[in-house]
Amino acid sequence: MTDPAIMDGLRRQQAALANFGTFAFHEPELGKILTEAARVCAECLHVPFAKICRYRDEQKDLLVVAGCGWKAGVVGNVISKADESSTQGRAFVTGKPVILEDIAKNASFVLPPFYAEHKIVSTADVLIKGKTGPWGVLEVDSAERREFSEHDVVFLTGFANVVAEAVATTERTAAMQSAIESMKHLIVEKDALLGERAARELKVHELQMELIHVSRLNAMGQMTAAIAHELNQPLAAIANYVGVAKISLEANHMDNGAILRLKDLVAKVQRQTLRAGSIIKNLKDVVEKRESIRLEVNVEDVIRDSLAMVLYDATDSNITMKFEFDAVLPKVLIDKVQIQQILINLIRNSVEAMHDSKERTLTLTTVAGEAGFANVMVRDTGAGLSPEVLQRLFQPFNTTKANGMGLGLMVCQTLAEANGGRIWHVEDKIKGTCFCLSLPLAETQAEELHPAAE
Ligand SMILES: Nc1ncnc2c1ncn2[C@@H]1O[C@H](COP(=O)(O)OP(=O)(O)OP(=O)(O)O)[C@@H](O)[C@H]1O
Ligand SMILES: [Mg+2]
Repeated sequence: MTDPAIMDGLRRQQAALANFGTFAFHEPELGKILTEAARVCAECLHVPFAKICRYRDEQKDLLVVAGCGWKAGVVGNVISKADESSTQGRAFVTGKPVILEDIAKNASFVLPPFYAEHKIVSTADVLIKGKTGPWGVLEVDSAERREFSEHDVVFLTGFANVVAEAVATTERTAAMQSAIESMKHLIVEKDALLGERAARELKVHELQMELIHVSRLNAMGQMTAAIAHELNQPLAAIANYVGVAKISLEANHMDNGAILRLKDLVAKVQRQTLRAGSIIKNLKDVVEKRESIRLEVNVEDVIRDSLAMVLYDATDSNITMKFEFDAVLPKVLIDKVQIQQILINLIRNSVEAMHDSKERTLTLTTVAGEAGFANVMVRDTGAGLSPEVLQRLFQPFNTTKANGMGLGLMVCQTLAEANGGRIWHVEDKIKGTCFCLSLPLAETQAEELHPAAE
């Protein structure tokens, strides 16, 4: 039967091991875990000294990282080679426990001076395993000659295994902590980058709006003749009606018929004044810098208003106008000024392209496009697009004109997309050029916003 004193000792060792396990589980600091491990080991084996050495891969040595009982200067400083020249080195290299009952009798070890300083006689070393290889060594030392029993060695080895587990856990936690830290860092960086990007996008949007405005003003500058003519028409009519009215009034025969004629003239003057007013309003809208406003409009009206600004007298430029309007096309949901800007540029381009052509026909077509879209086509019988222009179509500063900015088509594309539509060059074999602009129908948009109840 086993000696009750030994049994009692074993039970105490097991309880100490379990307590230490709980402590290590809750303690986040590895230094504290190792110091406690050394203290509990020394206490359970009734020795005054214990230490834990950690292997340092770069230096290929074992550094005392924790301990108990030692004079100051041992923990954190003392190192020994990770080879068989020391007891801890041999336990580390071989993985087997190294037990010395009398250190003085073993001349094969070169021991650091602190062994002598602490009058160490007996020592026992066991390996602390790591996840990827040996991690270090756990050693207990006695200043009195002491035999380490088989039970002691089993206890020490078990203890070293619990230490190894604690080391692995804290290393894992540290790795996780550092991953969390880098992730936090990345999130902060990402937020900063997103902020910068949003600011840049805003700047790009502002610049784009500026460019569109400049291009519009430039187009207006080149259209002053057409605009003056457009405005002159109602003004001339007003002058004419007022002249007739004046003659009637001067005649002094104000019978009922004369009064009726006068009333009719006044109504005509009123209509022409309103027309002049609406031309000026349209002009003001075009010139003003503004954000987009999308409303339901008749696409035909937009085309006619745009045409009036470019081509006040088609016969003057010897251009034959052809209108192919789909009479039942529903309204479109667009920013009228922006779509006018597109059409004005397309029509101007066509007129300019037909300058040297014999046949000069400008065809404006409206037709149902893909589901939910109306298509507007501007076709001319001009020179056609040159291969160089085609290669960079819709890109800025792509011009063959001496006074052109080469911004027109780029602005057309930006505005078409801003209105939920698209613009493209229609490639066919017919001489001349054709561009097609698709615009969203108002009905479809309304349905998307307020789907009909089923
Ligand atoms: N209908 C067309 N027929 C032939 N070439 C065309 C036609 N439309 C455009 N182009 C070519 O495409 C080029 C680019 O047109 P875009 O409208 O972008 O610029 P631009 O007319 O040169 O200058 P602006 O910025 O004043 O409009 C023109 O210079 C011209 O060479
Ligand atoms: Mg142009």
